Amino acid sequence: MINWEELKHIHVIRKLQQIIGQWFYAEVFFLDERGNVRNYDPYDRQREFKNPLCGNLLPKDQGREFLLNFFKETSERFSQDKENSWVMNGPLGFEKVFASKVTLDGEYLGAVIAYCHVEGSVPADKLQAAAQVMEQRGMDRELFEQAAQKMKSLNPAEVKYFYELVALVSQEITTFHTEISKREARIHALSNQLENRYSYNQMIGKSKPMQELYSMLDKVSSSEATVLIQGDNGTGKELIARSVHFNSPRKTAAFVTVNCSAFNENLLDSELFGHVKGSFTGAIKDKKGLFESAHNGTLFLDEVGDMTLTMQVKLLRVLQQGTLTPVGGTEERKIDVRVIAATNRDLKAMIEEGTFREDLYYRINVINIQVPALRDRKEDLPVLIDHFLLKSCKEKEVPLKQITARAMEKIFDYQWPGNIRELENEVERLVVLSGTDPKVGPELLSPRIRDAVASSGSGGGKSMSFKFAGKLKDALEELEKTMIKEGLRRTKWNKSKLAKELGISRAGLIMKVDKYGLDKRKLMRDAELAAAAAAAGGIPNGNGNKGEAA
Ligand SMILES: Nc1ncnc2c1ncn2[C@@H]1O[C@H](COP(=O)(O)OP(=O)(O)OP(=O)(O)O)[C@@H](O)[C@H]1O
Ligand SMILES: [Mg+2]
Repeated sequence: MINWEELKHIHVIRKLQQIIGQWFYAEVFFLDERGNVRNYDPYDRQREFKNPLCGNLLPKDQGREFLLNFFKETSERFSQDKENSWVMNGPLGFEKVFASKVTLDGEYLGAVIAYCHVEGSVPADKLQAAAQVMEQRGMDRELFEQAAQKMKSLNPAEVKYFYELVALVSQEITTFHTEISKREARIHALSNQLENRYSYNQMIGKSKPMQELYSMLDKVSSSEATVLIQGDNGTGKELIARSVHFNSPRKTAAFVTVNCSAFNENLLDSELFGHVKGSFTGAIKDKKGLFESAHNGTLFLDEVGDMTLTMQVKLLRVLQQGTLTPVGGTEERKIDVRVIAATNRDLKAMIEEGTFREDLYYRINVINIQVPALRDRKEDLPVLIDHFLLKSCKEKEVPLKQITARAMEKIFDYQWPGNIRELENEVERLVVLSGTDPKVGPELLSPRIRDAVASSGSGGGKSMSFKFAGKLKDALEELEKTMIKEGLRRTKWNKSKLAKELGISRAGLIMKVDKYGLDKRKLMRDAELAAAAAAAGGIPNGNGNKGEAA
């Protein structure tokens, strides 16, 4: 099923609709598989219609019913037909409608209907007949006739572009839907494959790397071995250290964290190993060091790569001997701690540089745990986001919010550097910014995430608006050029008039004339050549089309 709601956020689709409205005065409607119009809200009184007939019919109950019924019937017949596009007469008898199917693997998912245009002028008898019918239905005859007269008449060259653009809209919808379905299927397949664990203590993640981590933690926790946890910033190193401790036989004793980077070298000994009363000025009583506080429990040496070399030596001694002497003390004290260390630094490289002691490295690296970065386990994004949404909404006492598919797509495309903290902050930010709105759309995302462009090979394919940009740009420029060229001839080079017709400024038009090299003399010459060629037997003109030049 297509997520019709999301389509209004797709830039390419919006742009196409806008162009179709502006150039051809046609209104683009999305019909779902049952023929219901999905991008028109009868209660939206602000909506402006580019198409004068829609402006006349849709705001009135009778007119709306008339048009929507026509769409529904059309959709029913269209869905049975094997053609993918239809040009048909509209319900009023003088207007043309173009419809293009949205299909996936041959299945009819809906249609895009462009309503509508006339070819040539509106025949007076048909207009009268239609006006009579509308009058009988209770519409204002005069207003209806005025609207009908304002309809845009398209020439064959314009009609061709018009149909192409509308067909592009339906293709874009299919592409968008396919992308989203592929992602959902991938996530689904992964979750099935690992019907395993969705979380481990407070750690969330269903991906393969996380499953491996969990089984590793199972084994590690019950042992007494020293553990070194390595991973990028905010990947959950501390969470893992806690989980090891709280699943170990030492769980009833203390878990003490030492932040090695925050240490003041002078206070180091006393902080780590404690001191006895009177050992230095200010040591007014005995004080236990962090090592002793962790007795029978776990000592977590966080940011162990930030330790100075002096401190490394002292630490190594305690680890090797299992005893320590408090500052100013004389007796050695035996301590029983399990050490877990963590760092985001490359200790091997530090050993090479001489900033980390090799013997200490081997002492702490008995069991090594590498924590996967978020960018390497994007399939965990949905469960993590759900988790953080729930947490944040609960904290803020607001009803649980939902992140739209479009915003999710952006979140997937972003190359998360490490970092779960960043994701958590982002979700919290979204909860705040969305206010009372239960849905969180992509416009609220932080700019770096909103503007993320998918890199190939991750998360399943490029963002399709990106992929399509080149093709669309060319098509639009070609269209613009043709429209201007044709308009210049028709208005006999009256640029003010043409600019008004096209809804752009005169200066803007002049720039475009320049850009496309639509020089008056050159065009005249081309036209003469084309006319001569046509007279001589229909040689294609400069555009490659058969003699359509006027
Ligand atoms: N797998 C996970 N599931 C849920 N929350 C997680 C997970 N991993 C980390 N977090 C959360 O992300 C935040 C960062 O985690 P933590 O402090 O453990 O990371 P870290 O690797 O120690 O970070 P740093 O490199 O900054 O020291 C914490 O709020 C933590 O609760
Ligand atoms: Mg940390």
